[in-house]
Amino acid sequence: MNSPVMQGLSLNTPAYVQHTKLLAWVADMAALCKPAQVYWCDGSDEEYARLCQDLVDSGTFKRLNPAKRPGSFLACSDPSDVARVEDRTYICSAQKEDAGPTNNWMAPAEMRKTMQPLFEGCMQGRTMYVVPFSMGPLGSHISHIGIELTDSAYVAVNQKLMTRMGKAVFDVLGKDGAFVPCMHSVGAPLVGGAKDTSAWPCNPSVKYIVHYPETREIWSYGSGYGGNALLGKKCFALRIASNMGREQGWLAEHMLILGVTNPQGKKYHVAAAFPSACGKTNFSMLVPPAGFEGWKVTTIGDDIAWIKPQPDGSMVAINPEAGYFGVAPGTNYHTNPNCMASLDKNVIFTNVALTDEGDVWWEGMEKDSGTLPGHLIDWQGKDWTPQIAKDTGAKAAHPNARFTVSAINNPALDPAWDDAAGVPIDAFIFGGRRSSTVPLVTQARSWTEGVYMAATMGSETTAAATGAQGVVRRDPFAMLPFCGYNMSDYFAHWLQMGERVKASGHTVPSIFCVNWFRKDASGKFVWPGYGENMRVLKWMIDRIEGKAKAHETMFGFAPTYDEISWAGLSFSAAEFNTVTSIDKAAWQQELQLHSTHFEQLAHRLPKALLETKAALEQRLAQV
Ligand code: GTP
Ligand code: SPV
Ligand code: MN
Repeated sequence: MNSPVMQGLSLNTPAYVQHTKLLAWVADMAALCKPAQVYWCDGSDEEYARLCQDLVDSGTFKRLNPAKRPGSFLACSDPSDVARVEDRTYICSAQKEDAGPTNNWMAPAEMRKTMQPLFEGCMQGRTMYVVPFSMGPLGSHISHIGIELTDSAYVAVNQKLMTRMGKAVFDVLGKDGAFVPCMHSVGAPLVGGAKDTSAWPCNPSVKYIVHYPETREIWSYGSGYGGNALLGKKCFALRIASNMGREQGWLAEHMLILGVTNPQGKKYHVAAAFPSACGKTNFSMLVPPAGFEGWKVTTIGDDIAWIKPQPDGSMVAINPEAGYFGVAPGTNYHTNPNCMASLDKNVIFTNVALTDEGDVWWEGMEKDSGTLPGHLIDWQGKDWTPQIAKDTGAKAAHPNARFTVSAINNPALDPAWDDAAGVPIDAFIFGGRRSSTVPLVTQARSWTEGVYMAATMGSETTAAATGAQGVVRRDPFAMLPFCGYNMSDYFAHWLQMGERVKASGHTVPSIFCVNWFRKDASGKFVWPGYGENMRVLKWMIDRIEGKAKAHETMFGFAPTYDEISWAGLSFSAAEFNTVTSIDKAAWQQELQLHSTHFEQLAHRLPKALLETKAALEQRLAQV
């Protein structure tokens, strides 16, 4: 052990860590945060088991019944810490306009002044875990390394499932490799030897999720939940990586990646952006329904894609993550059997309910068993019965309850999911959650029109972020909370990436828009969704193969009723009309919202998008 001692605190640095800058940074951060001890994660299974046991001992984890859910745990968070906090998330670029109008911004110097006193002594009485991780396959030229310093063992064990975490990262880093420093504190110091009495330490009133794009740093304070705390995910792989991508000519996107193989054995790859809690995990694990024998869908990623144009004109994508932090409510054997199978063992559940048998439960599971459980302990530790739920509307699981599971648990995992070379993308899909207006599926006539549709996408807000729910907002490219720079520059970057592929003499991937969420007059979803989305996916593949005719609508090409395969499903032409019809008045209003959106983004907005809008308006006027 090579263990410099800081103010009486041993840094416990393992001999295999030889990176001078990293050692200096850890020493500085330890001096700032004043933890009781420093622990370097090696990423071993033994370490994972030990840290999970520590979390059981401290009351953060409940070990689930090993006969029902082997190797699995339940954590229930503080009720003030249940989702991403978008209003507390900042992009602190040197210039305000580089963060753009859609991001919270503070000048870096001012933010550092704000953060310094918060981090001063913030880890007192706690362990500072040094968590080395690779986003993307270890050593791949596409991958990037991060080191998270955190006072949360919950974060450390989640990072083991979500990333390639551990000792091997230092082999890649060597003495001077680049890494993104990720500072995280739950913001609950145990001052003066105070005992930790909280099962979910966090700071209920002060939270900051801060990014410095120029220096590529992340500082997160006050929350232990999800994207606020697992800093490899949204903070690094989207907000910081989108800045890297802009500079280096690639894309960091809020997209699933799937492989789809047709009965002839030809395989395509699709990347799809849906806003938070709008169906990425589900779509990435899709099981083709009856009538689609011979079709196969495999998962490369369920949340984030890093996409790089290659010299040969292809756009290849990798999933920077190694696990899934997915929405539990609504997941069952009918909607997502592959996901349910993934959750058989070795899972960390957060904010779901506990059954009397020591297993987990969430809303939607009654569809599998046919009944509601008689009694549960809900995510807040209270008794739950069907009667209580009926009387009070109490949810057993929090609507943003999640599971953390390694990708290797997924029975539909694509053999290339860990391939450093990535997979070539044939199509992009963009989809919002819209109860009206937006049709089931359209295909953009051009790259520019596709970028326009993605840039103006609206979606109803969900429980994945704190704040109002079910409100339609513009969520361009499903990246509103995740784009680490000016949104108009981001649109320009997308337009440029298309131009680059075209300049190399290649066709750009097709761009499709979908909406699984249209409702009828009684407020019910009309489209059956989930596995049935295969019908739409097949039409897309038919379009790519040139098999389906071009039937032109306002927003590009769309299928007629006859062009969708209906085998195995009864879905009438009238129902199809309900999910595909285009209402002129609704679209006139929608285009007004596009106008407002573009007014907000006017500074640096690419002209091509305004031209596309004018063309759409003209078409609409002629309907
Ligand atoms: P994040 O992890 O927050 O980025 O979310 P995600 O996009 O991966 O969403 P996920 O697949 O977990 O789905 C979220 C919610 O949408 C769940 O409650 C699902 O049941 C529901 N959902 C997913 N796909 C469909 C669909 O095709 N139709 C309908 N009606 N609901 C769906
Ligand atoms: C999302 O909100 O889009 C998520 C969950 O994927 S979190 O990691 O908490 O951001
Ligand atoms: Mn997400």
